[in-house]
Amino acid sequence: MSLPLRFLAIAAAFLIAHTASAAPIVIKYSHVVADQSPKGQAALKFKELAEKKFPGVVEVQVFPNSQLYGDGKEMEALLLGDVQIIAPSLAKFGKYTKKLQVFDLPFLFDNIQAVDRFQDGPVGQALLNSMTDKGIKGLGYLHNGMKQLSANKPLRTPADAKGLKFRIQSSDVLEAQFKAVGANPQKLAFAEVYQALQSGVVDGTENPWSNIYTKKFHEVQKYIMESDHGVLDYMVVTNAGWWNGLPPNIRKGLNEAMVESIKYGNKIAFDEDANFRQKVIDDKKAEVLPMTRAELNQWRKAMAPVWRQFEPEIGRDVINAALKANER
Ligand code: LMR
Repeated sequence: MSLPLRFLAIAAAFLIAHTASAAPIVIKYSHVVADQSPKGQAALKFKELAEKKFPGVVEVQVFPNSQLYGDGKEMEALLLGDVQIIAPSLAKFGKYTKKLQVFDLPFLFDNIQAVDRFQDGPVGQALLNSMTDKGIKGLGYLHNGMKQLSANKPLRTPADAKGLKFRIQSSDVLEAQFKAVGANPQKLAFAEVYQALQSGVVDGTENPWSNIYTKKFHEVQKYIMESDHGVLDYMVVTNAGWWNGLPPNIRKGLNEAMVESIKYGNKIAFDEDANFRQKVIDDKKAEVLPMTRAELNQWRKAMAPVWRQFEPEIGRDVINAALKANER
């Protein structure tokens, strides 16, 4: 072999060896719910798709059930670069933007389909960028479902909730929502909810069916009201600096994997919500009580002042766009 050819062969061998041994891009995806929940399934789907697109180049590590960070710490960890993807509930971004508080307004959305239309529309899409100045980039919305109220006594009218302690997510809107009916809201991390209910630290809570079932809240609550009074959805977010620093082809491929995984998770959220409700009923640990329109109207009326209280922070335009999504 001539000298230049030999040099080329050595250079090629070096390049191949180096590429093969280069450390993969490790993506830590941390969340607080169970693997079987819509978010848990979406995270696992992202891992599958991303690793299939970039074998040996990208490694996704999924940490469910607050294993790595609970919801008090996961945002900090994202900003510090200790995790790369998280998907907190839209109720947990209050420190970073006030606009997303729209999702917590009680009785704003008629159902999860209306939430979907709002998120898909121009105002919802613009909200994905509402935290870029803080270094947080929204990659997409992910559904869970409508929330149900629960306690150890039936909650037919707002008066039934008076004086009870309710666990809430870390949201000022949800705090105002329970105060509006004379209850005592307490912000607690998701990982602490089961024990707080079991030990009586709180009397009740609110969550969608998938979380109630997979976290066994129905085993430590006597009554679950079919209230559908609000939504619990997520924004999948990443560290903007990290994301923008990825090689363009990897960023593009990861974005495609994310879009696909969100579609997958959303389908589970739509398809399985009724099944999780049925599983709770079949377990016979808690009684699931339907609510009449007249009962729900009392709650709606009692909680109405919350809208006025938060409108200046959220913006009338954002609330109007959300309301419009109820019209089909
Ligand atoms: C909660 O804290 O109740 C939820 O935000 C948990 C979750 O991620 O669904």
